[in-house]
Amino acid sequence: MLVSSDKEISSILVIFGGTGDLTNRKLLPALYNLVSESLLPESFAVVAIGRKEKTVEQYRQEAFQAINKYSRNKIAKDIWDKLSSLIYYLQFDFLDSAGYVRLQAYLESIDEKHNTAGNRTFYLAVAPEYFEPIVNGLHCYELAKRSGSWQRLVIEKPFGKDLKSAKSLNDKLSGAFSEKNIYRIDHYLGKEMIQNIMVLRFCNSVFESVWNNKYIDNIQILLSEKAGVGSRGGYYETSGAMRDMVQNHVLQTLSLVAMEPPVQLTPDSIRTEKLKVIQAIEPFSSNSIDHNIVFGQYGSGLVEGKAVSGYKEEEKISASSTTETFVAMKLFVQNFRWAGTPFYIRTGKRLGSNEGKIVIQFKAAPPLLYFKDKFDHHANVLVIKIQPEVGVCFQFNTRKFGTTGEIISTRMDTGNACSTTGNTPEAYERLILDILRGDNTLFSRWDEVEAAWGFIDKIIEHQKQKNLEYPNYQAGTMGPRQANELIECDGRKWWD
Ligand code: BG6
Repeated sequence: MLVSSDKEISSILVIFGGTGDLTNRKLLPALYNLVSESLLPESFAVVAIGRKEKTVEQYRQEAFQAINKYSRNKIAKDIWDKLSSLIYYLQFDFLDSAGYVRLQAYLESIDEKHNTAGNRTFYLAVAPEYFEPIVNGLHCYELAKRSGSWQRLVIEKPFGKDLKSAKSLNDKLSGAFSEKNIYRIDHYLGKEMIQNIMVLRFCNSVFESVWNNKYIDNIQILLSEKAGVGSRGGYYETSGAMRDMVQNHVLQTLSLVAMEPPVQLTPDSIRTEKLKVIQAIEPFSSNSIDHNIVFGQYGSGLVEGKAVSGYKEEEKISASSTTETFVAMKLFVQNFRWAGTPFYIRTGKRLGSNEGKIVIQFKAAPPLLYFKDKFDHHANVLVIKIQPEVGVCFQFNTRKFGTTGEIISTRMDTGNACSTTGNTPEAYERLILDILRGDNTLFSRWDEVEAAWGFIDKIIEHQKQKNLEYPNYQAGTMGPRQANELIECDGRKWWD
């Protein structure tokens, strides 16, 4: 719980892209819920910056609409009044240097009014082409470093589009802000169950003692979406599922599942262990890519009984697009803990389910005594359910009550009787709070991003040279047929 008078966390949150989609859908609702839970510091204000001309009052009205539409909690008047009195709006074009001079003066006036001590969080909720000009503006007009106070930079993905561009962006950012003040968002790290992975592993000896290649047969990570690319076609065409999901969310999730226990619960101790996992992923050769990765792009199909169009027919998508909307991959983490245990990954759009989960499949008991065959349903399975359900499910074997002596799989599911269910906070609530506290554990450090691009780049490079026949899966299914073959040829199956 934050101490409201804490000078350390008093600050102004400056949102570039204050009228954009991310601000409306995620940031404003998160702020509302933080106010409602009395988690924001007493001395706090929000300055939204946008290119459109509007008064503070108009902006507050729009913010109200956005929160009303997207917040997980219904708006209560007293909470809204409190938040509304903290919100301001300043119009300027991010490319116009005079705007940064005005911003400096404006923030100083808000400091006086709200007692925010000169501390600033600059949140870049804008398209990536504005990252550099904004940081440059903040640097040149001395907003990025001020003595006697702190200044932090929050940057959304995509962090570059390959290793080279990510390095170049990082050089620009680190010219203005120190690494400890750069918060690279991967919103998956703010999700309840992703944060719970370390607790599950390191607070339960019953799991941690068997969390290795001796007892685990394989690990599966599924991040599937029923939605298509929607109105984000322009961005998605330059990205595809590899850059959009695998480079960040999937690898971050995997690193938490596979990491060694950190020496301490400090940001750097944890991030160093995560980094080692990404560095230990066995790189693919050109030959092994074809055997271990399946790319897909959706065609038309049925999702929840409604006909939907194929990717190439979506808004802002080229009719000859070769962008992948699906990836299935088998990879190995080559260290002592994991050598020989495959990690299977699947992510994509317009799939048959909307789900985030990690499945840990343990090795089956030997086919002696009760088991005559090695059937999957006899394996112990631990499922970490990220979304839409949140919780853990463990599958184990018991004897069916009665006389036949049949062995059945039983499930213990925290979803059924759980002390941690309820209205789970949105990832952004936790992330905003951590930024104000100065805790960057849940944000990607540069070397993690760098290692992830190093792994992904080669795959994207290889894929570009292939003439893949798209579409190769129907919307509403679980991806191309080859994705099933990828795992079935190892004698395993996806846990759907
Ligand atoms: C974003 C991707 O980072 O994550 C989107 O850019 C994707 O394409 C989204 O839809 C998924 O996030 P969530 O929280 O809805 O699972």
